[in-house]
Amino acid sequence: MKGIILAGGKGTRLYPMTIAVSKQLLPIYDKPMIYYPLSVLMLAGIKEIMIISTPTDISQYEKLLGDGSKIGVKFEYKVQTEPRGLADAFILGEDFIGKDSVCLILGDNIFHGGGISIAIKEAISNKKGATIFGYPVKNPKEFGVVEFDKSMNAISIEEKPEDPKSQYAVPGLYFYDNEVINIAKNVKPSNRGEIEITAVNNEYLKRKQLKVVTLGRGMAWLDTGTPKGMNQASSFVESIQSTQGYYVACIEEIAFTQGFIDIDELNKNGEELKATDYGKYILSICEEEKIKIKGMK
Ligand code: DAU
Repeated sequence: MKGIILAGGKGTRLYPMTIAVSKQLLPIYDKPMIYYPLSVLMLAGIKEIMIISTPTDISQYEKLLGDGSKIGVKFEYKVQTEPRGLADAFILGEDFIGKDSVCLILGDNIFHGGGISIAIKEAISNKKGATIFGYPVKNPKEFGVVEFDKSMNAISIEEKPEDPKSQYAVPGLYFYDNEVINIAKNVKPSNRGEIEITAVNNEYLKRKQLKVVTLGRGMAWLDTGTPKGMNQASSFVESIQSTQGYYVACIEEIAFTQGFIDIDELNKNGEELKATDYGKYILSICEEEKIKIKGMK
């Protein structure tokens, strides 16, 4: 399975912060926003990842993430000349996806909690069609909204409806089979002039090939759409890291636990960042690991 992170768009809702800097590079507490969706793809075991951004911003992502070898993944970069809509990811990514299935995650979506790994496993096991998620929110009008029947089967999805038919928003994490490329190519632009991901999902629904997994209380889906939302997300991450001692979205740690890199590579990453608490955390994992290995001998 391939992974795509959409990190383009104009970020106008966060002006003036995003006049000169791409939204998904802004910090959420101690790391760039894009680390959070990237960590979700890595937790899904995905190692081939395409990052899509604007002509001016793409080089910043290359500077930040490089070719991926440091964390045992492979990054490709693709320019989106205009924000044509989320479904454009599959048209831009056609060659990259090849004959594979694909997971799309939005560069400004942050997920946290045990529930996300379980949900991802379920999505990956679904080989045919599409898997998306439903997450209860107070303000469904601002999202794609999924309506369920009494047996919790999805019956409609609407993009930012005036009159939402449920509380369930569709988060920016989507799993598709290879058909998504053809479906995306045939999507007509919406009233706001975008080829909407909701139109792609509705096509799968029409084909009876859409699975909607509801995400419960054990999982947090955090909003980064406003300065207040970003601030709250930062506080959330800070609070978890300082109380539990575990880092959220430490991509080097995930690369190690997923077996993408070995302990020497992890150590090297930690050394490069050792002036920060983030780097010290990586080095502390190496130390713990060395103690474990010694104990086994
Ligand atoms: O966050 C989840 C929501 O994301 C879903 O519930 C909606 O169904 C979906 O349409 C989307 O809604 P938004 O209005 O929040 O999407 P937005 O235009 O803000 O774009 C989401 C991210 O994708 C943002 O980080 C910018 C990036 N993007 C967006 C477009 C339209 C691109 O990279 N290229 C694009 O063409």
